[in-house]
Amino acid sequence: MKNIAVIGTGYVGLVSGAGISDFGHNVVCADIDKNKIKHLQNGEIPIYEPGLHELVNRNVQSARLLFSSDVNKSIEDADVIFIAVGTPEGENGASDLTAVLEVARAIGKNLNSYKVICTKSTVPIGTGAEISKIINETSNNSIEFDYVSNPEFLREGSAVKDFLWPDRVIIGASNVRAFDIMKNVYRPLYINETPVIQTTIETAELIKYASNAFLSVKISYMNEIANMCDEIGADVHVVSKAMGIDGRISPKFLHPGPGFGGSCFPKDTKALVSMAEKFGTNLNVVESAIAANQLQKERMVKKLFKLLNNDVKGKTIAILGLAFKAQTDDVRESPSINIINALINNGANVKAFDPAANDNMKKLFEDLDTYMSWEETVKDADCVVIMTEWNEFRGINLSKLKELVKHPNLLDCRNILKIDDLEKQGFNYDNVGRKKR
Ligand code: UDX
Repeated sequence: MKNIAVIGTGYVGLVSGAGISDFGHNVVCADIDKNKIKHLQNGEIPIYEPGLHELVNRNVQSARLLFSSDVNKSIEDADVIFIAVGTPEGENGASDLTAVLEVARAIGKNLNSYKVICTKSTVPIGTGAEISKIINETSNNSIEFDYVSNPEFLREGSAVKDFLWPDRVIIGASNVRAFDIMKNVYRPLYINETPVIQTTIETAELIKYASNAFLSVKISYMNEIANMCDEIGADVHVVSKAMGIDGRISPKFLHPGPGFGGSCFPKDTKALVSMAEKFGTNLNVVESAIAANQLQKERMVKKLFKLLNNDVKGKTIAILGLAFKAQTDDVRESPSINIINALINNGANVKAFDPAANDNMKKLFEDLDTYMSWEETVKDADCVVIMTEWNEFRGINLSKLKELVKHPNLLDCRNILKIDDLEKQGFNYDNVGRKKR
């Protein structure tokens, strides 16, 4: 059993801290944001993440999980320190490492015994070396430490499951001592035969970017195939199903949609391209995936306008789904933002509903008219747009929907409604790459 400090209580830090305490270690999740810590100490979880509340409660009750705003003491008391602070997009798409480097300085100043310093935040290649340098410069040189890169692969909405049952654990370490300590942190996983991959620090840092960028490329590719299906009258779902049966391709991440969003793919792809430039190498494929994603978001706007014969001024449009995907309240880089902006700029009235993300979208659009159910949202609408694949939208009763709207126009950007049913109810509809009969 180890004493662990997780610095940063955002979505990665909180899920990782709670997950590590569930593995049987003593964990302090620390943050300089006193208000956030006060809420966490009161049992209030600041993000919507299925299963996180239960995971936190269970471990707080077992006294294995604590929250503290005393970052210095949390560092002093720990054997292993996880850096899990934010790395927002900085200049020219590169990551802004201000918070990470600030934590490195705090670690150096409070290094009172041998510790493993581990980065969970997604950081550019070479950051490990920079963190080690800062700790060396700010600490008493006689005290040893090891630096480890242990990237996270948590999906919002299934982060708890991804942490407790990961496909693999990547540990980038420069010696066996540090690797063994980290392996011990993840002991319940490796005795369960989860692959634990030992690499160098730089390789671990790159694995994270290479994985996220690959998935982004896969999505953009499928979106472009869907757009081709639109033009030639093919059904992209049949195409993707047949492709996915090929084990070399796999059926995952072949679902076309309004373009990828969230806190990772848009940022990590840009950061990887910026790194490639820095190292004098090319990542044309990733650059194209970023460009295709932007076009995909714009294409959804064009589809909507076309459905309304380019006459949106004064029309009432109901947007169902604001989060960048289902099971999260996160609206960062959400394709809904593009749609709302275009509608507002063209004089339409927007009504919107998301089961979890209304409040977050209102931070971007103060005057957004939000509702608490799809029924209220679609009432008297000239067009309904499905932007997020929440289950409650999959289950929409189309005859009821038709009764509520003013005009039966519908754009399904997630392809969650049955074409047969839309046809039967006489909707004027569009979707992403599915044949209209
Ligand atoms: C992602 C990675 O999956 C995770 O490993 C990493 O650590 C963080 O970034 P996340 O951003 O939470 O996780 O969501 P994910 O489920 O991967 O979806 C990302 C975006 O791709 C969403 O906008 C989603 O709607 C879109 N997507 C995903 C598709 O359009 N089609 C798909 O088939 C899959």
